[in-house]
Amino acid sequence: MNTHETISTFLDFYREHGHEISPSQSLLPPHGDDSVLFTTSGMHHLTPHLLGRPHPLGRRLSSVQRCLRTTDLDEVGDPTHLTVFEMLGSWSLGDYGGGQSLRWGHRLLREGFGLPPESLYVTVFGGDDQTGPDVESLHTWQDLGVPVELLGKDNWWSNGPTGPCGPDSEIFVWTGSGVPRDTPSTNPDWVEVWNHVMMRFERLPDGSLVPLPRLSVDTGMGLERLLTVLQGKDSVYETDVFEPWQQTVPTLWPLDTREHRVVVDHLRSGIVVIGDGVQPSNTGRGYVLRRLLRRVLTILWSGNHPLLDELPLDLYIHTLDHFGQSQTGTGTGIGTRTDTSTSVTPENIRHVILDEQRRFLQMLDRGHKVLSRRPRGQVLDGPTLRFLHETHGLPPEIVEVLSL
Ligand code: SER
Repeated sequence: MNTHETISTFLDFYREHGHEISPSQSLLPPHGDDSVLFTTSGMHHLTPHLLGRPHPLGRRLSSVQRCLRTTDLDEVGDPTHLTVFEMLGSWSLGDYGGGQSLRWGHRLLREGFGLPPESLYVTVFGGDDQTGPDVESLHTWQDLGVPVELLGKDNWWSNGPTGPCGPDSEIFVWTGSGVPRDTPSTNPDWVEVWNHVMMRFERLPDGSLVPLPRLSVDTGMGLERLLTVLQGKDSVYETDVFEPWQQTVPTLWPLDTREHRVVVDHLRSGIVVIGDGVQPSNTGRGYVLRRLLRRVLTILWSGNHPLLDELPLDLYIHTLDHFGQSQTGTGTGIGTRTDTSTSVTPENIRHVILDEQRRFLQMLDRGHKVLSRRPRGQVLDGPTLRFLHETHGLPPEIVEVLSL
């Protein structure tokens, strides 16, 4: 199943079960919400509705939402983590309960996506000192004949220190070789693809939990992880989402697997972030973008490879089109076009990236000069690195490369 078919299968299933398709939103949180820098989960734009405010589209929603997580940056390059990824989501806003959500999820995975029963394992919240176990989810999975592992804090979901939260049930798929064995918490070949959160509580600033007036359910499934399973691939980077990148990047830069994945992930993420209106800077969202681009430039520059002038415009076009950010593109997710009206063109985005490259090269020049003047034998310890960063704008990772 390719990306387009996978998204359609998901959205059609929820449409048939009375859900309205909510358009994909920008990576930037809604105006006035500064609790996170970027949208990290499909539910982010729905926070007020999970707390009880009526939603104009009703009480059953579904969407494909682009998300960005900086918490996973160090894991990018392994088979499952990406900086920008897409989340297939479904929501009951005070409508049906958690058991129904799990039953539909199970049916979609088994009948819609054809996953064999033995390839599934789930985890359920087993309780802690504040709340009891999630008995309804446990019984639902037992009825469905899916093996369950009861866990603690790993099965409690919240989007931040305050706000809607609750126990969750995570669905894992076996990606290892041979007969599935062990459990999700004991074998990494069980990969989490879908999370169903029973939004029962609101956490207040003093840390206390208050029951919500009505239970909501928030689910999110990582599109690229699902595609990895459905397409029988070893990593998200080998799915059809990345095809144009995989065809082009090895011809431009001979990198090892990990570097190759980081370069693809960060460049693609950088294009999407700029497409949503962010410019590189030294603070906030702009700094996240700058770090992504500088990491790519550092990899290319330290390997003596050509830099980003070589990146074909086609990859910018493909990426903007995939995320529904271009004015002419149709986007891959039919019916999920973005609500962003920013006028972004591939040429403008390339201009921003090449401008950032120019600054990076100027910084290297400055770095060479500063480091060549440093006293013989000076050790690059913590205070020296801090001085070079604060006074000369040289980040430690660049100093490290320059002083090799
Ligand atoms: N909010 C949950 C998550 O991000 C489910 O969508 O995992």
